[in-house]
Amino acid sequence: MKNLLIIDASPRGERSITRTFTKLFGTKWMESNPDSTIHHREVGQEVIPHVTELWISAAFKPAELRTEDEINVLKTSDKYIAELKAADVIVLGTPMYNWSIPSALKAYLDQVIRANETVKMRPDDPTNPYRGLLKDKKVYLLISRGNAGYEKGEYYEHMNFQTDYLKTVFNVMGLSDIQQIALNGSAFDQQVYEQNKKYVYSKIAEMASNGEITA
Ligand SMILES: Cc1cc2nc3c(=O)[nH]c(=O)nc-3n(C[C@H](O)[C@H](O)[C@H](O)COP(=O)(O)O)c2cc1C
Repeated sequence: MKNLLIIDASPRGERSITRTFTKLFGTKWMESNPDSTIHHREVGQEVIPHVTELWISAAFKPAELRTEDEINVLKTSDKYIAELKAADVIVLGTPMYNWSIPSALKAYLDQVIRANETVKMRPDDPTNPYRGLLKDKKVYLLISRGNAGYEKGEYYEHMNFQTDYLKTVFNVMGLSDIQQIALNGSAFDQQVYEQNKKYVYSKIAEMASNGEITA
């Protein structure tokens, strides 16, 4: 039995493109793995708490030394991290916002990238100071962007602070088995969008059914 964690980062509901991706992934996954469970983490339409001074003092001290306020301030982070640890497969649907990720997703990542929970800091090894503590999980990044040209070698590659960033943070937490697919041009390039739409949906279905994209 596999546990699938679906994270939706778009603030849009019915009109969201990336929510149609995660929905399709979940449906196809269940067809191929009917004994799986799906857990949904809403990010785009939730108020995700930001890191505060209390949060920092709580997160960077041993659990047994935390005050009641410090225990309480970490509760959301604890919940999100428990969901990540319980997952065998993580599916993240996110739009590009201002060449990066929506701020709610950044707030979520700030809650889950946590010392001694998802990453061990090694100050004695400054050129390689992070040891990821999550293991054996596949990550699928399902992305939508209003413009096009952001892929490697394309004209807007230098404006893409989204995909390498997301891969890096999952790598830092210990996860390197990452598949990614993007549908570009939803706002500015209808030609690219329409050309790629069918392909992207079919590849998402294939990823969910087979576990990976085949050429
Ligand atoms: C606030 C905001 C910022 C955006 N920034 C970018 C951007 O920097 N680059 C881009 O290609 N598209 C950008 N877009 C367009 C979205 O990435 C695009 O519409 C995407 O398909 C939305 O996905 P969703 O329907 O799942 O929310 C932006 C949209 C909004 C609302």
